Amino acid sequence: MENAKSTEVTLSDFIERLPKVELHLHIEGTLEPEMLIALAKRNGVEIPYRSIEAARNAYHFDDLKSFLNVYYLGASVLREDRDYHELTIAYLSRCKAERILHAEIFFDPQTHLANGVALEAVIGGIHAALLDAERDWGISSALILCFERDRDPATAVKLLERACALGNITGIGLDSAELDNPPGKFQTVFAAAKAMGLHRVAHAGEEGPPSYIWQALDMLQVERIDHGVRCLEDPSLVRRLIDDRIPLTVCPFSNIALKVFPQLSKHNLGELLAAGLLATINSDDPAYFGGYLSENMLHTFSNLNLPVRDALLLQRNAVEAAFCSDQRKQELLSALNEYNASHHVLL
Ligand code: HPA
Ligand code: ZN
Repeated sequence: MENAKSTEVTLSDFIERLPKVELHLHIEGTLEPEMLIALAKRNGVEIPYRSIEAARNAYHFDDLKSFLNVYYLGASVLREDRDYHELTIAYLSRCKAERILHAEIFFDPQTHLANGVALEAVIGGIHAALLDAERDWGISSALILCFERDRDPATAVKLLERACALGNITGIGLDSAELDNPPGKFQTVFAAAKAMGLHRVAHAGEEGPPSYIWQALDMLQVERIDHGVRCLEDPSLVRRLIDDRIPLTVCPFSNIALKVFPQLSKHNLGELLAAGLLATINSDDPAYFGGYLSENMLHTFSNLNLPVRDALLLQRNAVEAAFCSDQRKQELLSALNEYNASHHVLL
């Protein structure tokens, strides 16, 4: 008992102060119930929750679709430039507290446009917060525009051009309801993004089959796969992901909350690493799934009995997978190496 306790404290301390990178984070998924209720009131948006507690109690899901209903409802309280700024600053202050040094942030503009919000308010508010965090806290970041795969792909290129004209878009992604919405539908906008010099990622193999991961690679030419946990069902796909060093942005709490795995101790992150895949660990929608990056790491490590050195491996993988400059990657690796040198006694 004494031993178990001291191991836990050591792991917790190690993870808490470990320099970290987050690559799979939906900014709308950081909307905590307190802010949800406050913004609904401030903006006069009707929501079905009378209290913070009632909102929190609604955060139980059967699958991805049932989560998305709650998530898009939450996003409907975001209306003004300052709402996006406050939401993003709140997440970045978490990054500062948890020592996340670099964050790549998804956003869902189609949802906000459908709610009548101007694209300028969405991108302007988020981007101003990213600049504030870089200036005040030295946190680097990238902004990734996600297309919702259950919406019409026909308007996607126009939206991308409008967003890029506003500036500061690093890449595009593909999210929302995966089943029956194969990546191939979005080939045109992904080709346009590539021609524009943008980075490309897609959610695939979260609920959907390995064939959706193949499509994301071959038809969309993505550079990373978001989730991708179902790749282990197809050995030739695993070979391809390893050979091309395609990163997977794995999100353990999300996978449990949405019942991709029945419990954390059954998650396949350890197998993904053992297979030699370039896996990373991320929080996805932390306000809805029960914890930010450090908690995802801590609970996943203790439930899967992963060795502490895998925390370093996951972070080195994330640096390799990041869409930042080589110089920034060197800085991030130096921070990891320095941390490792001062803690090598644990490894
Ligand atoms: N999967 C797909 N779409 C999403 C998610 C997710 O986990 N979170 C927010 N949009
Ligand atoms: Zn996601």
